[in-house]
Amino acid sequence: MTAKTMDDLVSLCKRRGFIFQSGEIYGGLQGMYDYGPLGVELKNNLKSAWWSSMVYENDNIEGLDASILSNPTVLKYSGHEDTFSDPMVDCKSCNSRFRADQLDKNICPNCGSEDLTEPRPFNLMFKTNVGPISDGSSFAYLRPETAQQIFTNFKNVVDSSSKTLPFGIAQIGKAFRNEITPRNFIFRVREFEQMELEFFVRPGTDEDWHKEWVKKRLHWWEQQGVPKDNIELYDVPDDELAHYSKGTIDIMYKFPHGLEELEGIANRTDFDLGSHTKNQDELNISAKVMPNNNSNTRLAIQDIDSKKWVVPYVIEPSAGVDRGVLAIMNEAYNVEDLGEGKERIVLKLKPHLSPIKAAVIPLKKNNAELVNKASDLKKRLQSLNIGRVVLENTGNIGKGYRRHDEIGTPLCITIDFESLEDNTATVRDRDTMKQERVSIDALPDYLIKCINE
Ligand code: GLY
Repeated sequence: MTAKTMDDLVSLCKRRGFIFQSGEIYGGLQGMYDYGPLGVELKNNLKSAWWSSMVYENDNIEGLDASILSNPTVLKYSGHEDTFSDPMVDCKSCNSRFRADQLDKNICPNCGSEDLTEPRPFNLMFKTNVGPISDGSSFAYLRPETAQQIFTNFKNVVDSSSKTLPFGIAQIGKAFRNEITPRNFIFRVREFEQMELEFFVRPGTDEDWHKEWVKKRLHWWEQQGVPKDNIELYDVPDDELAHYSKGTIDIMYKFPHGLEELEGIANRTDFDLGSHTKNQDELNISAKVMPNNNSNTRLAIQDIDSKKWVVPYVIEPSAGVDRGVLAIMNEAYNVEDLGEGKERIVLKLKPHLSPIKAAVIPLKKNNAELVNKASDLKKRLQSLNIGRVVLENTGNIGKGYRRHDEIGTPLCITIDFESLEDNTATVRDRDTMKQERVSIDALPDYLIKCINE
């Protein structure tokens, strides 16, 4: 089963240390969240699964980690200065502000007044001063998507890694949008993380590649524990497409608050490279771009056969890390009836995503022999480099099991007096709650097998 409500997830996230409201001790800051000790592990595991599937498994995809503060000229030619806005209305009675396209009727959700302003565009980019002078003459944007620095680094990557089409550049990082109404926990926030691939292809092959990436991405989400049954594909209609897109398929997931976008896969054509390149007139650019006399670099690639300069088309799978965390937590959250009025909350995360891979628990917290043996085992398992392993020395096995069920630890390993005699331990499986006796020397392989399942 999936989560009953968003409140169940919010409560678990706070109680167990996954996600907190940012600046909570001062009343919080709307649309900002902090990842706690377990949240940061889960998020890092998700990012690392994405990075492996993109960069390590494909020799034609390279990684990048570019700056967040962006030269305004980049966002001028990308079209974001002119078009990256949402329609905003003000309520004239209570002065609240809303996104016009999210109002049910033309009624203020705060006070019920129908006295609203006409919608007007509100640019979503954050600006900040650069350097000591704050008169507005020297500013930068906080990037609204990671993609633009991939386009501006196109030639750097091609020249340094000798790529030929098709190839991709992948990046994971923070992006910022001054959302008019952040909401639904970590779903719509002002500071968030993206996992974006820009995949450069020959014009004419773009539509086939678009379909291919939709398939690949659905398969990847399934591997992370988000089944196809809870996903719908949305072919974004022309009047809803972003300014750079010729076609976008959204992977929509049944979040606790409704069916919403988890990842968008856009065909950005040659719009971005075409907009940022010099010598636009000499290149056969199909997209409608702004004339650009400021760029000093040709963002094109030489076709190996014809030797002509080609501005590649781009297929962009763009996923939200935070939305991914929310979907994965929602899928993993289970409440099981244990009978006699008892129940357990268990987070059935895929083991490669679990914040803690195994908990080693000595039966008695004050018995040095048990604690030392457990501590040695923790060190041995930790050295496998498969993620975090903890020594859980609370002296209360039942409490330890409950905590590790709730945070999704796949294995709990108990060291007891028998362990001192025969070098075995009891291994408890999170999902089945079954226990078996395993030789301590066999535990490294046992754990590796469990994580790689
Ligand atoms: N790069 C696509 C997006 O940020 O929506």
